[in-house]
Amino acid sequence: TIEKTLRPQWLAQYIGQEKVKHELEIYIKAAKNREEALDHVLLYGPPGLGKTTMAAVIANEMGVQLRTASGPAIDKPGDLVALLNELEPGDVLFIDEIHRLPRVAEEMLYSAMEDFFVDIMIGQGPTAHPVHFPLPPFTLIGATTRAGMLSAPLRDRFGIISHMQYYTEQELTEIVLRSADIFETNILAEGAIELARRSRGTPRIANRLLKRVRDFAQVQSDGMITKEIADQALTLLQVDHAGLDYIDQKLLRSMIESYQGGPVGLSTIAVNIGEETETVEDMYEPYLIQRGFLKRTARGRVVTAFAYEHFGYPYPEQ
Ligand code: ADE
Repeated sequence: TIEKTLRPQWLAQYIGQEKVKHELEIYIKAAKNREEALDHVLLYGPPGLGKTTMAAVIANEMGVQLRTASGPAIDKPGDLVALLNELEPGDVLFIDEIHRLPRVAEEMLYSAMEDFFVDIMIGQGPTAHPVHFPLPPFTLIGATTRAGMLSAPLRDRFGIISHMQYYTEQELTEIVLRSADIFETNILAEGAIELARRSRGTPRIANRLLKRVRDFAQVQSDGMITKEIADQALTLLQVDHAGLDYIDQKLLRSMIESYQGGPVGLSTIAVNIGEETETVEDMYEPYLIQRGFLKRTARGRVVTAFAYEHFGYPYPEQ
């Protein structure tokens, strides 16, 4: 049954990520045809692009159960054993933020992924002994913001590596219209386009902004999301006309005002705007680079002439 929930449940409902979907469709078909578990999948890319949703879609398409966990939450080897112990043949185990999995757990995954077993130590001191623990064939789906953060041995054990990209304006427009339909919200195409344009290429942000714009339309107008209503609400939310949020703006402005546009080190930028280095690197920087506001150089991050122009600052003589 094709029930409409905000998160798509099937590949056919999943908007965007065409290359990832196309490849997965083939591998899923082939694995189902052979009645085998799908090979392990690594999904990498910035937060909010639908990695968790994609894992759920894969499990659904394979007709198996989905178990989910998060790397940093697995802080004892026993936690991982407990998760693996619950798996039935073909099941999907999804580990979010897999780059933050503790070392011992990661090493246990090697044999689990490659040969479907783990060796665990039972007891302590002189009576300690290893116990061989067979597992059913399963699919590990790992999600990470950057594939480069994984150790080579772990990365090499994923047969399928998929890079999730920022969504196009057109894809986000479709997502906004679909979500508005599910929320039973009135929206004009031009309103959806405005929201899509200012959502940092990210469905999670588009859906969050849609809810706020809907509130605004309901209270300040007749409930219809027009381009003007979307613009007014987004301006109130400090999302500028290029779709940069408050932190993006603060980051670029502080680099221009305090560091003549750079080069500036990543950790200096992070301290200046009061964010974690990792958050700046995974969440803010990739979008700003993609949109041409920021450049990465060997000596640090540099603000582009385009960014100077965007904020109305004169570009300094080089
Ligand atoms: N909602 C959030 N992300 C989506 C996507 N990629 N496709 C369809 N609906 C979505």
